[in-house]
Amino acid sequence: MNNHKPAVAPPCSHADNDAPGEQVVALPDLPEWQQFSDAARSAAINLNTLRIINAAGIALDISAQRSSRELSDAARALLDARHFARMRERLFQGDAVNPTEGRAAWHTALRDPAPQDAITAERQRVNEFVRQADSERRWRNIVHIGIGGSDWGVRLAVRAFGYTGMWRNVRFVANIDGHAIEGGLAGLDPRETLVILASKSFTTAETLENGRRALEWLQSSGVRDPFSHMVAVTSATERARDFGIPDAHIFQLWDWVGGRFSLWSAVSLTTALAVSSDVVAGMQSGAAAMDAHFLNAPIEENAPVQLALAGIVNRSVLAYGSLNIAPYDFRLAELVPYIQQLEMESLGKSVILDGRPVGVPTGPAVWGMPGTDAQHTFFQWLHQGSDGAPVDFIVCQHADHGWTSHHQGLLANCLAQREALLRGKPFDDALQETLDEGVEPERARWLARHRTHSGGRPSNLIVLSRLSPYTLGALLALYEHKVFVQGVVWGINPFDQWGVEYGKKLAKNITASLSGTREIGADHDISTAYWVNTFRSSFK
Ligand code: F6P
Repeated sequence: MNNHKPAVAPPCSHADNDAPGEQVVALPDLPEWQQFSDAARSAAINLNTLRIINAAGIALDISAQRSSRELSDAARALLDARHFARMRERLFQGDAVNPTEGRAAWHTALRDPAPQDAITAERQRVNEFVRQADSERRWRNIVHIGIGGSDWGVRLAVRAFGYTGMWRNVRFVANIDGHAIEGGLAGLDPRETLVILASKSFTTAETLENGRRALEWLQSSGVRDPFSHMVAVTSATERARDFGIPDAHIFQLWDWVGGRFSLWSAVSLTTALAVSSDVVAGMQSGAAAMDAHFLNAPIEENAPVQLALAGIVNRSVLAYGSLNIAPYDFRLAELVPYIQQLEMESLGKSVILDGRPVGVPTGPAVWGMPGTDAQHTFFQWLHQGSDGAPVDFIVCQHADHGWTSHHQGLLANCLAQREALLRGKPFDDALQETLDEGVEPERARWLARHRTHSGGRPSNLIVLSRLSPYTLGALLALYEHKVFVQGVVWGINPFDQWGVEYGKKLAKNITASLSGTREIGADHDISTAYWVNTFRSSFK
Protein backbone atom coordinates (compact mmCIF):
# COMPACT_ATOMS: atom_id res chain seq x y z
CA MET A 1 0.00 0.00 0.00
CA ASN A 2 2.84 2.35 0.82
CA ASN A 3 4.72 2.83 -2.43
CA HIS A 4 6.70 5.77 -1.24
CA LYS A 5 8.52 4.71 1.89
CA PRO A 6 10.63 7.33 3.58
CA ALA A 7 13.14 6.21 6.17
CA VAL A 8 11.65 5.54 9.57
CA ALA A 9 13.96 8.14 11.09
CA PRO A 10 12.21 11.48 10.61
CA PRO A 11 10.22 10.93 7.44
CA CYS A 12 9.66 14.61 7.02
CA SER A 13 10.97 18.03 7.62
CA HIS A 14 9.64 21.57 7.42
CA ALA A 15 11.14 21.71 3.96
CA ASP A 16 8.89 19.10 2.36
CA ASN A 17 5.81 20.78 3.70
CA ASP A 18 3.92 23.54 1.96
CA ALA A 19 4.81 26.78 3.67
CA PRO A 20 2.08 27.49 6.21
CA GLY A 21 -0.53 29.69 4.68
CA GLU A 22 -0.02 28.65 1.09
CA GLN A 23 -3.15 27.73 -0.83
CA VAL A 24 -5.44 28.07 2.15
CA VAL A 25 -8.69 29.82 1.49
CA ALA A 26 -11.17 30.26 4.33
CA LEU A 27 -14.28 28.25 3.51
CA PRO A 28 -16.68 31.23 3.29
CA ASP A 29 -14.45 32.65 0.52
CA LEU A 30 -14.54 29.46 -1.50
CA PRO A 31 -17.26 29.26 -4.19
CA GLU A 32 -17.24 25.46 -3.84
CA TRP A 33 -18.18 25.87 -0.18
CA GLN A 34 -21.10 28.11 -1.06
CA GLN A 35 -22.34 25.51 -3.53
CA PHE A 36 -21.89 22.73 -1.01
CA SER A 37 -23.68 24.56 1.80
CA ASP A 38 -26.53 25.67 -0.49
CA ALA A 39 -26.95 22.11 -1.74
CA ALA A 40 -26.89 20.78 1.85
CA ARG A 41 -29.55 23.28 2.91
CA SER A 42 -31.89 22.28 0.13
CA ALA A 43 -31.24 18.55 0.40
CA ALA A 44 -33.39 16.34 2.61
CA ILE A 45 -33.10 12.98 4.30
CA ASN A 46 -34.47 10.65 1.67
CA LEU A 47 -36.40 7.90 3.44
CA ASN A 48 -36.77 5.86 0.27
CA THR A 49 -33.12 5.54 -0.66
CA LEU A 50 -30.88 3.05 1.03
CA ARG A 51 -27.27 4.26 1.16
CA ILE A 52 -24.87 1.70 2.59
CA ILE A 53 -21.10 1.56 2.10
CA ASN A 54 -19.26 -1.66 2.89
CA ALA A 55 -15.65 -1.37 3.93
CA ALA A 56 -13.29 -3.69 5.81
CA GLY A 57 -16.01 -5.76 7.49
CA ILE A 58 -18.09 -2.71 8.37
CA ALA A 59 -21.34 -1.49 6.85
CA LEU A 60 -21.84 2.25 7.08
CA ASP A 61 -25.48 3.20 6.57
CA ILE A 62 -25.79 6.89 5.76
CA SER A 63 -29.42 6.72 4.64
CA ALA A 64 -30.45 8.97 7.54
CA GLN A 65 -28.31 11.89 6.34
CA ARG A 66 -29.24 14.58 3.87
CA SER A 67 -28.53 13.63 0.27
CA SER A 68 -29.10 14.82 -3.27
CA ARG A 69 -27.32 14.69 -6.60
CA GLU A 70 -26.39 18.37 -6.24
CA LEU A 71 -24.90 17.74 -2.81
CA SER A 72 -22.74 14.86 -4.10
CA ASP A 73 -21.49 16.96 -7.00
CA ALA A 74 -20.77 19.90 -4.73
CA ALA A 75 -18.95 17.62 -2.28
CA ARG A 76 -16.68 16.34 -5.01
CA ALA A 77 -15.91 19.87 -6.16
CA LEU A 78 -15.24 20.95 -2.57
CA LEU A 79 -12.81 18.08 -2.00
CA ASP A 80 -11.02 18.96 -5.23
CA ALA A 81 -10.80 22.60 -4.22
CA ARG A 82 -9.22 21.44 -0.96
CA HIS A 83 -6.70 19.22 -2.84
CA PHE A 84 -8.03 16.27 -0.87
CA ALA A 85 -6.35 13.58 -3.00
CA ARG A 86 -2.95 15.22 -2.63
CA MET A 87 -3.41 15.75 1.11
CA ARG A 88 -4.35 12.09 1.56
CA GLU A 89 -1.27 11.05 -0.36
CA ARG A 90 0.89 13.23 1.86
CA LEU A 91 -0.64 11.65 4.97
CA PHE A 92 0.19 8.16 3.75
CA GLN A 93 3.66 9.14 2.60
CA GLY A 94 4.67 10.41 6.00
CA ASP A 95 4.96 14.05 4.92
CA ALA A 96 4.78 16.84 7.47
CA VAL A 97 1.00 17.12 7.54
CA ASN A 98 1.27 18.68 10.99
CA PRO A 99 2.90 22.00 10.06
CA THR A 100 2.67 23.75 13.45
CA GLU A 101 4.79 21.00 15.00
CA GLY A 102 6.72 20.31 11.81
CA ARG A 103 6.08 16.61 11.73
CA ALA A 104 4.20 13.78 10.12
CA ALA A 105 1.17 11.94 11.47
CA TRP A 106 2.21 8.64 10.06
CA HIS A 107 0.17 6.18 12.12
CA THR A 108 -0.78 4.34 8.92
CA ALA A 109 2.85 3.19 8.62
CA LEU A 110 2.48 1.29 11.90
CA ARG A 111 -0.24 -0.95 10.47
CA ASP A 112 1.09 -1.22 6.94
CA PRO A 113 1.02 -4.95 6.06
CA ALA A 114 4.56 -4.56 4.73
CA PRO A 115 6.08 -2.30 7.37
CA GLN A 116 9.55 -0.88 7.39
CA ASP A 117 12.27 -2.82 9.14
CA ALA A 118 12.43 -0.64 12.24
CA ILE A 119 8.68 -0.99 12.75
CA THR A 120 8.84 -4.76 12.32
CA ALA A 121 11.76 -4.95 14.70
CA GLU A 122 9.90 -3.07 17.43
CA ARG A 123 6.79 -5.21 16.92
CA GLN A 124 8.96 -8.28 17.33
CA ARG A 125 10.47 -6.93 20.55
CA VAL A 126 6.99 -6.39 21.96
CA ASN A 127 5.82 -9.85 20.87
CA GLU A 128 8.93 -11.46 22.32
CA PHE A 129 8.43 -9.69 25.64
CA VAL A 130 4.85 -10.96 25.77
CA ARG A 131 5.80 -14.47 24.64
CA GLN A 132 8.40 -14.73 27.36
CA ALA A 133 6.10 -13.35 30.04
CA ASP A 134 3.35 -15.77 28.99
CA SER A 135 5.65 -18.77 28.87
CA GLU A 136 6.93 -18.00 32.37
CA ARG A 137 3.40 -17.20 33.59
CA ARG A 138 4.91 -13.92 34.74
CA TRP A 139 3.33 -10.59 35.63
CA ARG A 140 0.04 -11.47 37.19
CA ASN A 141 -0.68 -7.74 37.51
CA ILE A 142 -0.20 -5.01 34.95
CA VAL A 143 -0.48 -1.36 35.95
CA HIS A 144 -0.67 0.73 32.80
CA ILE A 145 0.20 4.36 33.50
CA GLY A 146 -0.48 6.83 30.67
CA ILE A 147 -3.02 9.46 29.74
CA GLY A 148 -4.98 10.62 26.67
CA GLY A 149 -3.74 8.79 23.60
CA SER A 150 -1.39 6.76 25.76
CA ASP A 151 -4.39 5.39 27.61
CA TRP A 152 -7.77 5.37 25.82
CA GLY A 153 -6.97 3.05 22.93
CA VAL A 154 -5.46 0.43 25.20
CA ARG A 155 -8.36 0.66 27.64
CA LEU A 156 -10.76 0.27 24.74
CA ALA A 157 -9.08 -2.85 23.35
CA VAL A 158 -8.62 -4.48 26.76
CA ARG A 159 -12.26 -3.90 27.71
CA ALA A 160 -13.52 -4.99 24.29
CA PHE A 161 -11.71 -8.31 24.29
CA GLY A 162 -11.19 -8.96 27.99
CA TYR A 163 -14.72 -8.28 29.21
CA THR A 164 -15.24 -11.84 30.44
CA GLY A 165 -12.07 -11.70 32.53
CA MET A 166 -8.37 -12.15 31.93
CA TRP A 167 -5.65 -14.20 33.52
CA ARG A 168 -3.81 -10.98 34.22
CA ASN A 169 -5.24 -8.32 36.41
CA VAL A 170 -4.96 -5.09 34.39
CA ARG A 171 -5.35 -1.68 35.97
CA PHE A 172 -5.22 1.73 34.30
CA VAL A 173 -3.97 4.84 36.02
CA ALA A 174 -4.17 8.14 34.17
CA ASN A 175 -5.34 10.95 36.42
CA ILE A 176 -3.02 13.15 38.52
CA ASP A 177 -5.52 12.65 41.36
CA GLY A 178 -3.56 10.58 43.89
CA HIS A 179 -6.61 8.43 44.55
CA ALA A 180 -6.14 7.01 41.07
CA ILE A 181 -2.67 5.60 41.68
CA GLU A 182 -3.60 4.66 45.24
CA GLY A 183 -6.49 2.57 43.92
CA GLY A 184 -4.42 1.35 40.97
CA LEU A 185 -1.80 -0.23 43.21
CA ALA A 186 -4.01 -1.23 46.14
CA GLY A 187 -4.00 -4.89 46.99
CA LEU A 188 -1.47 -5.90 44.32
CA ASP A 189 1.50 -8.10 45.08
CA PRO A 190 4.50 -6.00 43.93
CA ARG A 191 6.52 -9.15 43.15
CA GLU A 192 3.94 -10.06 40.54
CA THR A 193 3.41 -6.56 39.18
CA LEU A 194 4.67 -4.94 35.99
CA VAL A 195 4.27 -1.18 35.68
CA ILE A 196 4.06 0.12 32.12
CA LEU A 197 4.74 3.83 31.63
CA ALA A 198 3.28 4.90 28.31
CA SER A 199 4.21 8.42 27.33
CA LYS A 200 5.31 9.59 23.95
CA SER A 201 6.97 12.69 25.37
CA PHE A 202 7.90 11.28 28.77
CA THR A 203 7.20 14.76 30.12
CA THR A 204 3.50 14.42 30.89
CA ALA A 205 3.03 15.47 34.51
CA GLU A 206 0.34 12.92 35.32
CA THR A 207 2.30 9.97 33.96
CA LEU A 208 5.60 10.94 35.57
CA GLU A 209 4.03 11.68 38.95
CA ASN A 210 2.10 8.39 38.94
CA GLY A 211 5.22 6.59 37.70
CA ARG A 212 7.17 7.95 40.66
CA ARG A 213 4.51 6.70 43.09
CA ALA A 214 4.63 3.26 41.47
CA LEU A 215 8.42 3.22 41.72
CA GLU A 216 8.30 4.21 45.40
CA TRP A 217 5.73 1.47 45.98
CA LEU A 218 8.01 -1.11 44.36
CA GLN A 219 11.06 0.18 46.26
CA SER A 220 9.33 0.19 49.62
CA SER A 221 7.98 -3.30 49.11
CA GLY A 222 11.50 -4.66 48.94
CA VAL A 223 11.37 -6.21 45.45
CA ARG A 224 14.91 -6.98 44.41
CA ASP A 225 15.24 -4.78 41.34
CA PRO A 226 12.32 -2.34 41.12
CA PHE A 227 13.29 -1.15 37.63
CA SER A 228 13.00 -4.68 36.31
CA HIS A 229 9.30 -4.30 37.15
CA MET A 230 8.97 -1.22 35.00
CA VAL A 231 8.67 -0.73 31.27
CA ALA A 232 8.51 2.49 29.27
CA VAL A 233 6.96 3.05 25.86
CA THR A 234 8.15 6.39 24.57
CA SER A 235 9.80 8.37 21.82
CA ALA A 236 12.01 10.05 24.45
CA THR A 237 14.41 7.20 25.16
CA GLU A 238 16.88 9.41 27.01
CA ARG A 239 14.24 10.63 29.47
CA ALA A 240 13.10 7.07 30.16
CA ARG A 241 16.71 6.11 30.81
CA ASP A 242 17.10 9.06 33.17
CA PHE A 243 14.05 7.81 35.03
CA GLY A 244 15.96 4.56 35.53
CA ILE A 245 14.27 2.23 33.05
CA PRO A 246 16.76 -0.27 31.60
CA ASP A 247 17.25 -0.20 27.81
CA ALA A 248 15.80 -3.67 27.38
CA HIS A 249 12.57 -2.36 28.90
CA ILE A 250 12.26 0.73 26.73
CA PHE A 251 10.01 0.31 23.71
CA GLN A 252 10.08 2.84 20.98
CA LEU A 253 7.33 4.95 19.59
CA TRP A 254 8.35 7.48 17.03
CA ASP A 255 8.07 11.23 16.94
CA TRP A 256 5.95 10.97 13.79
CA VAL A 257 3.18 9.10 15.59
CA GLY A 258 0.68 11.57 17.05
CA GLY A 259 -0.18 10.94 20.72
CA ARG A 260 -3.81 10.13 19.94
CA PHE A 261 -2.76 7.55 17.36
CA SER A 262 -0.26 5.71 19.55
CA LEU A 263 -2.56 2.71 20.00
CA TRP A 264 -0.94 1.33 16.84
CA SER A 265 2.53 1.46 18.36
CA ALA A 266 4.28 -0.43 21.16
CA VAL A 267 1.81 1.27 23.53
CA SER A 268 -0.28 -1.81 22.75
CA LEU A 269 2.15 -3.88 24.83
CA THR A 270 -0.47 -3.74 27.57
CA THR A 271 -3.15 -4.93 25.15
CA ALA A 272 -0.95 -7.85 24.13
CA LEU A 273 -0.20 -8.83 27.74
CA ALA A 274 -3.89 -8.55 28.60
CA VAL A 275 -5.68 -10.06 25.63
CA SER A 276 -2.89 -11.39 23.39
CA SER A 277 -0.60 -10.28 20.60
CA ASP A 278 -3.10 -11.77 18.15
CA VAL A 279 -5.61 -9.11 19.12
CA VAL A 280 -3.06 -6.39 18.41
CA ALA A 281 -2.18 -7.94 15.05
CA GLY A 282 -5.87 -8.35 14.17
CA MET A 283 -6.58 -4.71 14.94
CA GLN A 284 -3.66 -3.66 12.79
CA SER A 285 -4.93 -5.71 9.84
CA GLY A 286 -8.44 -4.28 10.19
CA ALA A 287 -7.05 -0.76 10.27
CA ALA A 288 -4.83 -1.52 7.25
CA ALA A 289 -7.89 -2.77 5.35
CA MET A 290 -9.68 0.51 6.13
CA ASP A 291 -6.55 2.43 5.06
CA ALA A 292 -6.63 0.63 1.71
CA HIS A 293 -10.33 1.38 1.32
CA PHE A 294 -9.79 5.05 2.18
CA LEU A 295 -6.98 5.27 -0.35
CA ASN A 296 -8.74 3.49 -3.19
CA ALA A 297 -12.52 3.71 -2.95
CA PRO A 298 -14.21 6.34 -5.11
CA ILE A 299 -15.52 9.34 -3.20
CA GLU A 300 -19.17 8.25 -3.39
CA GLU A 301 -18.34 4.86 -1.88
CA ASN A 302 -15.60 5.96 0.45
CA ALA A 303 -16.77 5.37 4.02
CA PRO A 304 -14.47 7.82 5.87
CA VAL A 305 -15.10 10.51 3.25
CA GLN A 306 -18.88 10.14 3.38
CA LEU A 307 -18.88 10.03 7.17
CA ALA A 308 -16.82 13.21 7.18
CA LEU A 309 -19.05 15.02 4.68
CA ALA A 310 -22.20 14.15 6.63
CA GLY A 311 -20.51 15.50 9.75
CA ILE A 312 -19.60 18.75 7.98
CA VAL A 313 -23.18 19.22 6.80
CA ASN A 314 -24.47 18.63 10.32
CA ARG A 315 -21.93 20.89 12.01
CA SER A 316 -21.13 23.68 9.59
CA VAL A 317 -24.39 23.98 7.67
CA LEU A 318 -27.12 22.73 10.01
CA ALA A 319 -25.29 24.07 13.10
CA TYR A 320 -25.58 20.98 15.30
CA GLY A 321 -23.13 21.67 18.11
CA SER A 322 -22.47 18.10 19.14
CA LEU A 323 -22.21 14.52 17.95
CA ASN A 324 -23.51 11.66 20.02
CA ILE A 325 -21.74 8.30 19.91
CA ALA A 326 -24.04 5.42 20.80
CA PRO A 327 -22.29 2.04 20.74
CA TYR A 328 -24.96 -0.61 21.19
CA ASP A 329 -22.34 -2.93 22.60
CA PHE A 330 -21.43 -3.10 26.25
CA ARG A 331 -17.87 -4.07 25.29
CA LEU A 332 -17.35 -0.78 23.46
CA ALA A 333 -17.96 1.51 26.42
CA GLU A 334 -14.47 3.01 26.09
CA LEU A 335 -15.11 3.86 22.46
CA VAL A 336 -16.86 7.03 23.57
CA PRO A 337 -13.85 8.69 25.26
CA TYR A 338 -11.60 7.28 22.54
CA ILE A 339 -13.56 9.03 19.77
CA GLN A 340 -14.06 12.03 22.01
CA GLN A 341 -10.30 12.56 22.25
CA LEU A 342 -9.71 11.75 18.60
CA GLU A 343 -12.32 14.20 17.34
CA MET A 344 -12.17 16.97 19.91
CA GLU A 345 -8.40 17.19 20.28
CA SER A 346 -8.06 17.06 16.51
CA LEU A 347 -10.91 19.30 15.38
CA GLY A 348 -11.37 21.68 18.30
CA LYS A 349 -9.67 24.46 16.30
CA SER A 350 -10.80 27.82 15.02
CA VAL A 351 -8.06 28.91 12.61
CA ILE A 352 -6.97 27.66 9.22
CA LEU A 353 -3.38 26.76 8.40
CA ASP A 354 -2.36 30.35 7.69
CA GLY A 355 -3.72 31.47 11.07
CA ARG A 356 -6.88 33.25 9.91
CA PRO A 357 -10.33 32.29 11.30
CA VAL A 358 -11.97 29.21 9.78
CA GLY A 359 -15.18 31.15 9.22
CA VAL A 360 -17.56 28.24 9.86
CA PRO A 361 -18.21 26.13 12.98
CA THR A 362 -15.72 23.22 13.22
CA GLY A 363 -15.45 20.04 15.32
CA PRO A 364 -18.56 19.32 17.39
CA ALA A 365 -18.55 18.33 21.05
CA VAL A 366 -18.53 14.54 21.11
CA TRP A 367 -20.31 12.67 23.87
CA GLY A 368 -22.16 9.43 24.47
CA MET A 369 -22.68 6.24 26.36
CA PRO A 370 -23.44 2.67 25.34
CA GLY A 371 -27.05 1.86 24.49
CA THR A 372 -29.30 0.83 26.05
CA ASP A 373 -28.04 2.66 29.19
CA ALA A 374 -27.99 5.87 27.15
CA GLN A 375 -31.70 5.55 26.43
CA HIS A 376 -32.43 5.78 30.13
CA THR A 377 -30.02 8.67 30.61
CA PHE A 378 -30.17 11.28 27.86
CA PHE A 379 -32.07 9.98 24.85
CA GLN A 380 -35.10 12.01 25.92
CA TRP A 381 -33.01 15.12 25.09
CA LEU A 382 -32.08 13.66 21.70
CA HIS A 383 -35.71 12.94 20.87
CA GLN A 384 -37.50 16.04 22.08
CA GLY A 385 -34.86 18.52 23.28
CA SER A 386 -34.67 21.87 21.52
CA ASP A 387 -31.19 21.27 20.08
CA GLY A 388 -30.82 17.57 19.37
CA ALA A 389 -27.65 16.04 17.98
CA PRO A 390 -26.70 13.69 15.17
CA VAL A 391 -26.05 10.19 16.49
CA ASP A 392 -23.60 7.52 15.38
CA PHE A 393 -25.26 4.20 16.23
CA ILE A 394 -22.70 1.40 16.33
CA VAL A 395 -23.79 -2.21 16.65
CA CYS A 396 -22.65 -5.77 15.90
CA GLN A 397 -24.92 -7.97 13.81
CA HIS A 398 -23.77 -11.09 15.68
CA ALA A 399 -23.18 -11.35 19.40
CA ASP A 400 -20.54 -13.55 21.02
CA HIS A 401 -22.79 -14.83 23.79
CA GLY A 402 -25.52 -17.42 23.34
CA TRP A 403 -28.59 -15.49 24.56
CA THR A 404 -30.62 -14.74 21.49
CA SER A 405 -33.25 -12.71 23.35
CA HIS A 406 -30.61 -10.31 24.65
CA HIS A 407 -29.18 -9.67 21.23
CA GLN A 408 -32.58 -9.31 19.62
CA GLY A 409 -33.45 -6.76 22.30
CA LEU A 410 -30.21 -4.87 21.76
CA LEU A 411 -30.61 -4.74 17.97
CA ALA A 412 -34.27 -3.79 18.26
CA ASN A 413 -33.52 -0.92 20.62
CA CYS A 414 -30.77 0.39 18.40
CA LEU A 415 -32.98 0.38 15.30
CA ALA A 416 -35.98 1.74 17.20
CA GLN A 417 -34.14 4.73 18.61
CA ARG A 418 -32.74 5.58 15.23
CA GLU A 419 -36.12 5.23 13.58
CA ALA A 420 -37.79 7.42 16.20
CA LEU A 421 -35.18 10.15 15.67
CA LEU A 422 -35.59 9.91 11.95
CA ARG A 423 -39.36 9.58 11.56
CA GLY A 424 -40.48 11.54 14.59
CA LYS A 425 -44.12 11.54 15.54
CA PRO A 426 -46.34 14.23 13.99
CA PHE A 427 -49.02 15.89 16.10
CA ASP A 428 -51.84 14.11 14.28
CA ASP A 429 -50.32 10.68 14.96
CA ALA A 430 -49.79 11.56 18.60
CA LEU A 431 -53.36 12.77 18.86
CA GLN A 432 -54.78 9.65 17.27
CA GLU A 433 -52.66 7.46 19.52
CA THR A 434 -53.93 9.32 22.58
CA LEU A 435 -57.56 9.21 21.47
CA ASP A 436 -57.19 5.47 20.82
CA GLU A 437 -56.21 5.09 24.45
CA GLY A 438 -59.66 6.45 25.37
CA VAL A 439 -58.50 9.90 26.53
CA GLU A 440 -61.21 12.55 26.13
CA PRO A 441 -60.53 14.92 23.17
CA GLU A 442 -59.51 18.12 24.95
CA ARG A 443 -57.03 16.37 27.20
CA ALA A 444 -55.87 14.27 24.21
CA ARG A 445 -54.98 17.43 22.26
CA TRP A 446 -53.01 18.75 25.20
CA LEU A 447 -51.23 15.43 25.74
CA ALA A 448 -50.49 15.05 22.03
CA ARG A 449 -48.46 18.24 22.08
CA HIS A 450 -46.17 16.60 24.66
CA ARG A 451 -45.98 13.38 22.70
CA THR A 452 -45.03 14.96 19.40
CA HIS A 453 -41.47 14.34 18.08
CA SER A 454 -40.05 16.61 15.41
CA GLY A 455 -38.10 13.80 13.69
CA GLY A 456 -35.74 14.40 10.78
CA ARG A 457 -32.77 14.09 13.12
CA PRO A 458 -29.73 12.77 11.27
CA SER A 459 -27.79 9.67 12.25
CA ASN A 460 -25.36 7.08 10.98
CA LEU A 461 -25.71 3.37 11.55
CA ILE A 462 -22.40 1.53 11.67
CA VAL A 463 -22.78 -2.24 11.65
CA LEU A 464 -19.89 -4.58 12.41
CA SER A 465 -20.51 -8.16 11.40
CA ARG A 466 -19.22 -9.05 14.86
CA LEU A 467 -16.78 -7.49 17.28
CA SER A 468 -13.36 -8.83 16.36
CA PRO A 469 -9.92 -7.27 16.52
CA TYR A 470 -10.18 -6.81 12.76
CA THR A 471 -13.49 -4.95 12.81
CA LEU A 472 -12.51 -2.83 15.80
CA GLY A 473 -9.26 -1.85 14.07
CA ALA A 474 -11.22 -0.95 10.95
CA LEU A 475 -13.72 1.06 12.98
CA LEU A 476 -10.99 3.13 14.63
CA ALA A 477 -9.31 3.80 11.29
CA LEU A 478 -12.70 4.82 9.87
CA TYR A 479 -12.98 7.56 12.49
CA GLU A 480 -9.32 8.57 12.13
CA HIS A 481 -9.72 9.14 8.41
CA LYS A 482 -13.06 10.86 8.87
CA VAL A 483 -11.31 13.35 11.17
CA PHE A 484 -8.52 13.82 8.62
CA VAL A 485 -10.99 14.59 5.81
CA GLN A 486 -12.81 17.10 8.00
CA GLY A 487 -9.50 18.76 8.84
CA VAL A 488 -8.74 19.05 5.13
CA VAL A 489 -12.14 20.55 4.29
CA TRP A 490 -12.13 22.99 7.19
CA GLY A 491 -8.52 23.87 6.34
CA ILE A 492 -7.28 23.26 9.89
CA ASN A 493 -4.43 21.23 11.33
CA PRO A 494 -6.01 18.20 13.02
CA PHE A 495 -2.70 16.98 14.42
CA ASP A 496 -1.71 19.59 16.99
CA GLN A 497 -3.27 20.49 20.37
CA TRP A 498 -2.05 23.92 21.45
CA GLY A 499 -5.04 24.44 23.69
CA VAL A 500 -4.04 21.46 25.80
CA GLU A 501 -0.44 22.64 25.89
CA TYR A 502 -1.49 26.07 27.21
CA GLY A 503 -3.43 24.49 30.09
CA LYS A 504 -0.43 22.30 30.92
CA LYS A 505 1.82 25.36 31.13
CA LEU A 506 -0.52 27.26 33.45
CA ALA A 507 -0.92 24.17 35.65
CA LYS A 508 2.86 23.87 35.92
CA ASN A 509 3.15 27.44 37.22
CA ILE A 510 0.27 27.04 39.65
CA THR A 511 1.70 23.75 40.92
CA ALA A 512 4.96 25.59 41.62
CA SER A 513 3.03 28.30 43.50
CA LEU A 514 1.13 25.71 45.54
CA SER A 515 4.33 23.91 46.46
CA GLY A 516 5.99 27.19 47.43
CA THR A 517 8.78 27.10 44.82
CA ARG A 518 7.30 30.07 42.97
CA GLU A 519 5.58 33.25 44.08
CA ILE A 520 1.93 33.54 43.12
CA GLY A 521 2.06 35.26 39.73
CA ALA A 522 0.66 38.78 39.44
CA ASP A 523 -0.86 37.75 36.12
CA HIS A 524 -3.66 35.67 37.69
CA ASP A 525 -7.24 36.91 37.74
CA ILE A 526 -8.55 37.77 41.19
CA SER A 527 -10.44 34.52 41.71
CA THR A 528 -7.57 32.24 40.64
CA ALA A 529 -5.14 34.19 42.83
CA TYR A 530 -7.52 33.87 45.81
CA TRP A 531 -7.78 30.10 45.44
CA VAL A 532 -4.07 29.56 44.81
CA ASN A 533 -3.45 31.46 48.02
CA THR A 534 -6.13 29.57 49.93
CA PHE A 535 -5.05 26.14 48.71
CA ARG A 536 -1.42 26.96 49.26
CA SER A 537 -2.06 27.46 52.98
CA SER A 538 -3.15 23.82 53.29
CA PHE A 539 0.29 22.64 52.14
CA LYS A 540 2.25 24.69 54.70
O1 F6P B 1 -3.71 15.62 25.93
C1 F6P B 1 -2.62 16.10 25.21
C2 F6P B 1 -1.70 15.00 24.89
O2 F6P B 1 -0.61 15.60 24.30
C3 F6P B 1 -2.32 13.94 23.98
O3 F6P B 1 -2.29 14.26 22.65
C4 F6P B 1 -1.52 12.76 24.34
O4 F6P B 1 -2.15 11.61 23.96
C5 F6P B 1 -1.43 12.91 25.85
O5 F6P B 1 -1.27 14.30 26.04
C6 F6P B 1 -0.32 12.15 26.51
O6 F6P B 1 0.93 12.53 26.03
P1 F6P B 1 2.20 11.63 26.23
O7 F6P B 1 1.98 10.34 25.54
O8 F6P B 1 3.34 12.41 25.68
O9 F6P B 1 2.36 11.40 27.73
